[in-house]
Amino acid sequence: MSLNGSKITVIVGAQWGDEGKGKITDYFAGESEYVVRYHGGNNAGHTVIVKGSEYKLHLIPSGVLYEHPISVIGNGVVIDPKALLKEIQYLFKQDIHPQLMISDRAHVIMPYHKQMDNALTDHQGALAAGSTKRGIAPVYADKMFRHGIRMVDITEPDIFKEKLHKSYNFNKKLLSAISDQIIQPDEKSIYEKYLQYGKKLAPYIKDISLELYEAQRNGKAILFEGAQGISLDIDHGIYPYTTSSNSIAGNIATGTGVSYRNINRIIGVTKAYISRVGIGPLPTELPKKQGDALREKGEEYGTTTGRPRRVGWLDLVQVRQAVRVNGLTEIALTKPDILSDNGDLSVCTAYDVDGQQEQEMPASLHKFRLAEPVYQTLPGWGQLSDDMAEKGYESLPENLRHYVQFIEDEVSCPISIISIGPERHQTIIR
Ligand code: GDP
Ligand code: IMO
Ligand code: MG
Repeated sequence: MSLNGSKITVIVGAQWGDEGKGKITDYFAGESEYVVRYHGGNNAGHTVIVKGSEYKLHLIPSGVLYEHPISVIGNGVVIDPKALLKEIQYLFKQDIHPQLMISDRAHVIMPYHKQMDNALTDHQGALAAGSTKRGIAPVYADKMFRHGIRMVDITEPDIFKEKLHKSYNFNKKLLSAISDQIIQPDEKSIYEKYLQYGKKLAPYIKDISLELYEAQRNGKAILFEGAQGISLDIDHGIYPYTTSSNSIAGNIATGTGVSYRNINRIIGVTKAYISRVGIGPLPTELPKKQGDALREKGEEYGTTTGRPRRVGWLDLVQVRQAVRVNGLTEIALTKPDILSDNGDLSVCTAYDVDGQQEQEMPASLHKFRLAEPVYQTLPGWGQLSDDMAEKGYESLPENLRHYVQFIEDEVSCPISIISIGPERHQTIIR
């Protein structure tokens, strides 16, 4: 069968993460044979609610709640084996038995990466992004230094010993140079512990690029689940207040070894307002009192760290970039229900930087520090109800449909999915 018959869909975040990618991935997972993570690690936190039961996922793709799709962790993902084994156990306890495949090329988060993450945050001070302290930046840095440890290595004792020695000693020196911390635990105990993890995870470790290539050739539907969002992307985000991987759709190629040539749909998940965990410029952030109210209503607390999320008005300068850089074929709008009964709503369409209007995300941190949002005021809407999901788009309040149209016009991308609640069934397809 020709590769052109493939059915590839990519789901990405169009903001600062936590847009509802988990919910939208779960929605489409039922019609997919593979659901694949291609970057990031357990800094991600994806909440899926099905029939009243809530599941929090960090490394395993959000397709796992269906029995049939195979859950794939690509080579671009960084894996903390302890966290992964814990997540597998968490699912087992709920009688979910993931059909899991892990790339042999995925890099492994070591205990010293987490230690280094803490030290880095102190070292970077005002330029620190407010990391989740899961070891993300240090593990990707070691990958680029080329002394990283991959999943295949922890199944090969001799190679692992050789590689660990290099990586451990490098990190030991680096840690003592930037902090007064002492690397822990010792090399030998890490070696023994990680060989045990390797034994436990060995049945899942494979060349997933080949597996997915064959799947494409056989016309199987593959769904890619992004983590984080465009403004946290290491290249296209608001650097250095980003994560350390590329969240954009094009990264499925490097992150899994599946060519982007055959992608059919790229869905950008966009919350009807914004939220941000961590530090960095946030032009449309609400003042404290209003922000506190929206945070409580939207339950905006980090899925991974529990930190309160900063919240604000929808920023279309950001979404415009997400449409362009990801090549979005469509947008999934989430959480408009949280804006119900809010009165008039503001939507940012440009930044005013020292008297100049900017329609696109600047690279300059100086400009971001000066950026004042240019707002358009749109009328709000009342309560949304579950029967609207059954009745379809036309049953939504007129002002919400106007909000949808306004976004589409500003960013030149259709909104084809509207999520009006966290549950799988609270979803409207236009
Ligand atoms: P992700 O990181 O993009 O997967 O998003 P998270 O799961 O971290 O955060 C999104 C939160 O919003 C989760 O608690 C979801 O259950 C919830 N959610 C998703 N879509 C909707 C929606 O349309 N309405 C409401 N009220 N909640 C939603
Ligand atoms: P999901 O997939 C929201 C943020 C952190 C911090 C910055 C760097 O759930 O959307 P890191 O630990 O990656 O070095 O932290 O990125 N961050 C997220 N914010 N959602 C996420 O993932 C995030 N993953 C990382 O708060 O500001
Ligand atoms: Mg999240």
